[in-house]
Amino acid sequence: MDRYICSRLVREDLALNAALEASLKAGLPPANVSPNQGKFLYLLAMIRGARRILEIGTLGGYSTIWLARALPADGVLVSIEVKTEHAAVAKKNLQFARLSHKVSIMIGRAVETLEHLIEEKVEPFDLVFIDADKGNYPLYLQMVLALARAGTVIVCDNIVRNGRVGDSTCNASDVTGIRQYIDLVAGQSRVESTALQTVGSKGWDGFCISVVTA
Ligand code: DHB
Ligand code: MG
Repeated sequence: MDRYICSRLVREDLALNAALEASLKAGLPPANVSPNQGKFLYLLAMIRGARRILEIGTLGGYSTIWLARALPADGVLVSIEVKTEHAAVAKKNLQFARLSHKVSIMIGRAVETLEHLIEEKVEPFDLVFIDADKGNYPLYLQMVLALARAGTVIVCDNIVRNGRVGDSTCNASDVTGIRQYIDLVAGQSRVESTALQTVGSKGWDGFCISVVTA
């Protein structure tokens, strides 16, 4: 079904295909979003009219390319990546996609990079995509809220994990991290949230989507 959807609605694209190929060749884990999911992120950023995007978890830069393409000419995307090798692949992929001028990849642990951004009092972000180590999702959310303002959209990936998140007998650290994230947004008066399941080439998974209201 994803093949059908992509053949009709997501155009074949040299830079995106090259990014996937280079990521695979470099031995990166195939954890990139699917093409139709990437376009979904792109559309969200367009709908939001995002000028400043924050991504936690660059990997090979596949979702980064989708998101950066939604930015206006003066828009910026900050993407945080802990692995130097991943960041190097992403930088090349972004260069090939002619997006380097809009994207700043910050190498380091996300908690430390986010702390730095908060200390620097950077302008709030319009859209945040969290797609990194699931155990730290709750911590990332707390920090992201310090970098958000009313209207900021927060999307987080992998909230279903083949149904393990809804299986109360499963207590793996990724699953408990996601449950804590869901509980946090649920109890957080500053955000309105829902979550959607997805099936397709990335298996059974889903996105949690929140809007900051104050
Ligand atoms: C994994 C991580 C992801 O962010 C993803 O989208 C798919 C898989 C993983 O760590 O297995
Ligand atoms: Mg993911």
